[in-house]
Amino acid sequence: DAAEKGGYEHYMLKEIHEQPQALRQALSGRVDELQGTVDLGLDLPAEYLRSLEEIQIVACGTSYHAGLYAAHLIETHADVRVTVHVASEYAFRGGRDPWRTLVVAVTQSGETAETLGALRDAARTGARTLAVTNTVGSSVTRAADDALYIRAGPEIGVAATKTFVSQVATLALFAVHVGRVRGTLSATEASAILGDVRGLPGAVQQALDADEQVRAVAEEYADSEAFFFIGRHLGHPVALEGALKLKEISYDHAEGFPAGELKHGPLALVTEQTPVLAVLTDGANADATLNSVKEAESRGAPVIGCLSDGRGEKLLDDTLDVPEIGEMSPLVANVYLQLFAYHVANLKGRAIDKPRNLAKSVTVE
Ligand code: G6P
Repeated sequence: DAAEKGGYEHYMLKEIHEQPQALRQALSGRVDELQGTVDLGLDLPAEYLRSLEEIQIVACGTSYHAGLYAAHLIETHADVRVTVHVASEYAFRGGRDPWRTLVVAVTQSGETAETLGALRDAARTGARTLAVTNTVGSSVTRAADDALYIRAGPEIGVAATKTFVSQVATLALFAVHVGRVRGTLSATEASAILGDVRGLPGAVQQALDADEQVRAVAEEYADSEAFFFIGRHLGHPVALEGALKLKEISYDHAEGFPAGELKHGPLALVTEQTPVLAVLTDGANADATLNSVKEAESRGAPVIGCLSDGRGEKLLDDTLDVPEIGEMSPLVANVYLQLFAYHVANLKGRAIDKPRNLAKSVTVE
């Protein structure tokens, strides 16, 4: 057992540390940074991609958060509307042409019943379908027209970690590919984005190397009553994912929301006993989020910031540094939030790899 965990105390910690390698696998052989092109080996004809009116992403849990992140990237770079659906709420609603709609199921296991159900519903309408998954030969790959593998390697811990970053990185490549085909992204722009994606393994490694610092922060706040996670733009899905990770494995109350919403309700819950974790990196509209940080601070809440370039450092009780890699920076903040959740849960002696009531893959609706 210890050998399988590669010397780590839990699979989750091992998998958190495997992220640079998982990312290298996701990118391997797919990226031509100089030319600004991506080869994903997909059977999606250029005329089809050019005629697209909407991409619908369907997913559950962590994969849903990866979908939210990817939606921003695809809309920005491929100039096509992207809607993201919790799979259990999905329906092919009115005002859409199935022939101009691509439905993308994002599922690590490829077996989540609700995601499979949504994909099958979409296929019945005549929409083209694509599976983005970690698992070769999984049910979703058989149900979809085409599959795009995230190549993260097996993930044993119930709480998804490395598969999240691999999903987003793979979908970032997809965004660049679609943008190039649709002519909305120049080779130079594509090269710059691909450069940031290529910077991810190294940047994630830097965050992992600061694990001792994250553990110290976790020790400081582990006894808190509740935790809030805030972020904007690409920092929003990361805030949601940070809160999900913490509640899954520590059983503490944790909520993530767009930073701007803090004042529209959640602020009533903010006290000296409720740490706020803020995503203040590139790609996360950090300057606007600092206003929310001030709102939390003035209610006495400790604020922990994941930040690029020291922005707002003076306002923060604790800071975790994120290298600047453009739109990929919030993913590095996510690694800090994973480590934070891990250490809080570990300090409480929780069953980190198998949290109560949860399953790695939920195959019933
Ligand atoms: C379960 C797991 C989550 C996961 C979700 C979706 O609830 O506990 O960690 O995010 O399923 O899984 P999928 O395999 O579809 O990505």
